[in-house]
Amino acid sequence: MSMTLEQAKAKLEQYGQQHVLKYYEELSETGKRALLDQIDATDMSILDACLHKEELAQKGEITPLAAMQIPEIEANRESFTKTGLEAIRAGRVGAVLLAGGMGTRLGSDDPKGMYNVGITRELYIFECLINNLMDVVKQADAWIHLFVMTSDKNHDATVAFLKEKNYFGYREEYVHFFEQEMAAATDYNGKIYLEEKGKLSTSPNGNGGWFVSLKRCGLLNFVHEAGIEWLNVFAVDNVLQRIADPCFIGATIRKNCVVGSKVVRKSAPDEKVGVMCLEDGKPSIVEYYELTEEMANAKDENGDYAYYFGVILNYLFKVAELERMMENKLQLHIVEKKIPYLNENGELVKPEQPNGYKFENLVLDMIHEMDSCLPFEVVREKEFAPIKNATGVDSVESARELLKKNGVEL
Ligand code: UTP
Repeated sequence: MSMTLEQAKAKLEQYGQQHVLKYYEELSETGKRALLDQIDATDMSILDACLHKEELAQKGEITPLAAMQIPEIEANRESFTKTGLEAIRAGRVGAVLLAGGMGTRLGSDDPKGMYNVGITRELYIFECLINNLMDVVKQADAWIHLFVMTSDKNHDATVAFLKEKNYFGYREEYVHFFEQEMAAATDYNGKIYLEEKGKLSTSPNGNGGWFVSLKRCGLLNFVHEAGIEWLNVFAVDNVLQRIADPCFIGATIRKNCVVGSKVVRKSAPDEKVGVMCLEDGKPSIVEYYELTEEMANAKDENGDYAYYFGVILNYLFKVAELERMMENKLQLHIVEKKIPYLNENGELVKPEQPNGYKFENLVLDMIHEMDSCLPFEVVREKEFAPIKNATGVDSVESARELLKKNGVEL
């Protein structure tokens, strides 16, 4: 039984959101039902946190966490790789592509993975990622299950595109889609915007919801049945991303860590990336704006910078540990955003400037729920070419340069 109008009113009153029923009487029966269902499904308890945003990000005591650096990796490459390949061949490793984001900075209406980075030929972001994963499939001579997270805003387009492109040569039975949850989007006072008369404005709830969503979509059962013990989670936008990298997997297993995190050496102490650290003795990530100048320049006992390894959104999680922390509430991140909304006259406005908040959980906060983490250094020019913007830093242009340097024909 879904929610009645009376129940919806009671819930809305509790959270001060009665205004979302403004056009209720104008809706068709199906429209009414859909709105009540959406009100039922929306977590409104988080929204008033935007009124005291500053209090959300209280960090504990930060101390350094040493990374496994390239010389050590190279000295052990063969044996780590062997361990990683064994895990892959035994079916114990799966990959999770986080592709539910809106990619607003890139400015295309299509899912980010559909972006064509080719110049003389077509080469889509999804295709780059699948090509990279195929390298490992060939090396291991074993297929790897790939879970693709989408959101309500891009699910159909993503599924249709990959199907039409024949998964760029990946085997269809090894590709599994699941949708993440959405969260309401509000004005600066925490009041939910309407994007249609019968629809609350929503935004994907951040990439930190991926494991809960995987379970909700029934795929965690599949993970168990397939015997997958490790999930390599990665972002859609890094076209040089090495996925299910056997050496990284092997190093994490051999170091007895429950999570591995690929990291790159900062280019300067003040580079704007989140770096690996310990927070109250547990692995964590300290954002660049949380890092004091003193910490940014601090050295460890070997004379190396103590906070120098930036995360690139490529993590290897142990599934059993993810299940253990699943009930823990992750920190909420409240981010300013341009939110399309109905104005006083019921007309749709697409603002040019941010006009409210989206509410997100982030995958990096999952690290702090883990007892041990291996930061694993990779060579930036070989593995990190993020596409966030159309031009400039971390853009299509910079990624193309890096792809070329790595021998990818454009
Ligand atoms: P970003 O932080 O770059 O966010 O996502 P975004 O929404 O894609 O882009 P902007 O900020 O609007 O320009 C990092 C990774 O996390 C995924 C993205 O698809 C990307 O792979 N992500 C982000 C999700 O899967 N879901 C989300 O809700 C947010």
